Amino acid sequence: MTECQKRLRELSPAYEAVAREEHIPVIRPESLKLLLAAAKKTKCRRVLEIGTAIGYSTAWLAVETGAAVDTIERDCTRLDRAKKFWQEIGISGRINAYLGDADELVGRLAKENTYDFVFIDAAKSRYSDYLDAVYPSLEKGGAVFADNVYYLGLVKGDAYPPHKHRTIVTNMRAFLAKINDKEKFYTTVYDTEDGTAVCVKL
Ligand SMILES: C[S@@+](CC[C@H](N)C(=O)[O-])C[C@H]1O[C@@H](n2cnc3c(N)ncnc32)[C@H](O)[C@@H]1O
Repeated sequence: MTECQKRLRELSPAYEAVAREEHIPVIRPESLKLLLAAAKKTKCRRVLEIGTAIGYSTAWLAVETGAAVDTIERDCTRLDRAKKFWQEIGISGRINAYLGDADELVGRLAKENTYDFVFIDAAKSRYSDYLDAVYPSLEKGGAVFADNVYYLGLVKGDAYPPHKHRTIVTNMRAFLAKINDKEKFYTTVYDTEDGTAVCVKL
């Protein structure tokens, strides 16, 4: 085990506790296992993460794959915490953090870079738009991993969603329809925790 892997395992419980206490959503354990398995299978070197929060999944991705990670977050307090976490682990040099709105930044980064792994985990109503924006920059054989695709279980089936969740559910169903395009992706959706999808670009 590398020094970074040791430090990540020592420090993670404290950051998981911060997330719990401050109600900051971070990836759950089974979904994290799926995320890391998908990233390793892709042998990714250039990762885009949309939704950093306190840098928990960023750290696991960077440490366990050795890839460079571009990550986007609009909350500066969360991003400051994330930077501290990465510094403590010793991986800051491989992570480019972008503070701002993913609606604007995803398109910009996708124009300037290519990626072989994209983790979508920000605004749940925007997944379909993020997918459209990153698709041209995603290498063939590269993968998109999306968390919370069943969104509280409301996305499954075609039941009419409650009013306050209508936009997210409608847009998430549109996202699922897009990733099920068999000409573009090889997709697996896991019914784990809040639902996760892995789509490999064909
Ligand atoms: C689920 S959390 C990310 C968790 C992180 N990926 C992890 O597992 O450790 C989603 C984050 O996306 C951020 N976010 C939501 N909408 C955003 C937007 N439009 N632009 C940038 N960040 C956004 C939120 O502030 C929040 O911190």
